Amino acid sequence: MIADMQNAGLQPWILSGYRSYSAQAISWEKWNREEPERAAILSARPGHSEHQLGTTLDFGSPELAEIVGIEDIEFHTYFYQTSEGIWLAENAHRYGFTLSYPRGAQELTGFFYEPWHYRYVGEKWLPSCTIQAPT
Ligand code: DAL
Ligand code: ZN
Repeated sequence: MIADMQNAGLQPWILSGYRSYSAQAISWEKWNREEPERAAILSARPGHSEHQLGTTLDFGSPELAEIVGIEDIEFHTYFYQTSEGIWLAENAHRYGFTLSYPRGAQELTGFFYEPWHYRYVGEKWLPSCTIQAPT
């Protein structure tokens, strides 16, 4: 997927991948120190992050800083406006990646919109299965 993005002229950055329990604990503690009111919807408790599975990546974009107007910004909701964010939203599923925390799904996922956080679930996951919506 990265190679195809680069061949399309994009510059996907990988900001975070596998995290150990202690790495997640450090991140969680930082969020709780800096933004205690929102920490629970921004960061998973240690032991509960998809990053600890080793199947999840956080993507960055060289365009984000200019869009947000902050030079060293790494994560921001406006990632969805970057060329890399747009490409991922349209194509990641073709490579077996799924957006874990979509916009407006906080009640279902427990987390705020994270347009950069993709989890690998496999390309042929439930290939011919259709799920009937409850009536
Ligand atoms: N930011 C996501 C929810 C995590 O901490 O895994
Ligand atoms: Zn993430």
